[in-house]
Amino acid sequence: MIPAFDLKRQNRSLSGELTRAMTEVIEAGQFILGGTVAAFEEEIAGALDVTHAVGVANGSDALYLALLAAGVGPGDEVVTTPFTFFATAGSISRVGAKPVFSDVDRDTFNMDPAKALAQVSPRTRAMLPVHLFGLMVDMAPLLAGFAGTVIEDAAQAIGARRDGYRAGSAGAMGCFSFFPTKNLGAFGDGGVVTTQDGSLAEALRILRTHGSRRKYLHERFGVNSRLDALQAAVLRVKLPHLADWTARRQAIAARYTAGFSALGVSEVLPPAVPAGSVHVFHQYTVRAERRDALKAHLNQAGIGSTVYYPVPLHLQPVFAELGYGPGDFPASEELSRTALSLPVFPELVDDEVDAVIEAVAAFYGHGY
Ligand SMILES: Cc1ncc(COP(=O)(O)O)c(C=O)c1O
Repeated sequence: MIPAFDLKRQNRSLSGELTRAMTEVIEAGQFILGGTVAAFEEEIAGALDVTHAVGVANGSDALYLALLAAGVGPGDEVVTTPFTFFATAGSISRVGAKPVFSDVDRDTFNMDPAKALAQVSPRTRAMLPVHLFGLMVDMAPLLAGFAGTVIEDAAQAIGARRDGYRAGSAGAMGCFSFFPTKNLGAFGDGGVVTTQDGSLAEALRILRTHGSRRKYLHERFGVNSRLDALQAAVLRVKLPHLADWTARRQAIAARYTAGFSALGVSEVLPPAVPAGSVHVFHQYTVRAERRDALKAHLNQAGIGSTVYYPVPLHLQPVFAELGYGPGDFPASEELSRTALSLPVFPELVDDEVDAVIEAVAAFYGHGY
């Protein structure tokens, strides 16, 4: 059995350290904010090359709080893509603003800057590009062409780079998730907002504790959304391994791409890596002919795979009121029918990668 993802392998190799780190928190009795969270915030800021990192309860709240901190609210529009996880657009609705969708580029799965800029109206307050599957959006034209706030949904892209930009430090704020299956995963939910701007960092810190700087004195409406100290302790153990884990993901991706090419599997298009990009392969997502049949074949062979995302956001029932319909975003709709994510996680061994390549090749009648 080759699972789509296996967290147990990673946890097993670090279990002594993780247990010690969590025990320290339990013995200190400081579970909400405090030294462990502050230390992690400092470490992750250093790793991501930003001046501020504000730990929050999850990646969805990171997006919500970033939009609130930017002053986005009712009457505002925010441009984003429909081929992403629900939370991206959900966060825009959550602050009372209107998501405006712009189709993705079918080769990169990511926001097409020219198309996104064409959606800007006098009401557009922010742009919310998503660095999907670990590949950064082409930020330079977006930043050059849009005068409002750019907030990066970097939930899947920790450590990614492109043209001198790093995920989470190109726009005004970057939003990351530490959901257990992410490249840097906690033992539960967690997230962080990064920024180079001290006043935004302060706003985020206030917003995550009910709009209060001093206990029981509330300056604005905020929420309760903090990164738990126990999660911060887990993340502090894992963070020093992230660079190696990312390198292993990249090696697996390269092995897949070379393997499909060597076996002449032209029915599968490997993920694009545009020049100047460092892809961190949160997912290795191919575009596949007869995707659903391929997935069933892999499943039969004991190989896990995942469909991200089967229904683009403009066709989700909850967004019906936005008035979009089938055919509005052809690339996103096509990808929802063709994209398939193959197993990629640092502990996956080469023999397993080769077995996946061979199973894909066999499905299309190629191979040895
Ligand atoms: C692109 C994207 N945005 C936002 C989120 C939300 O993160 P979380 O699950 O931590 O709330 C996720 C992850 O689930 C994601 O993949």
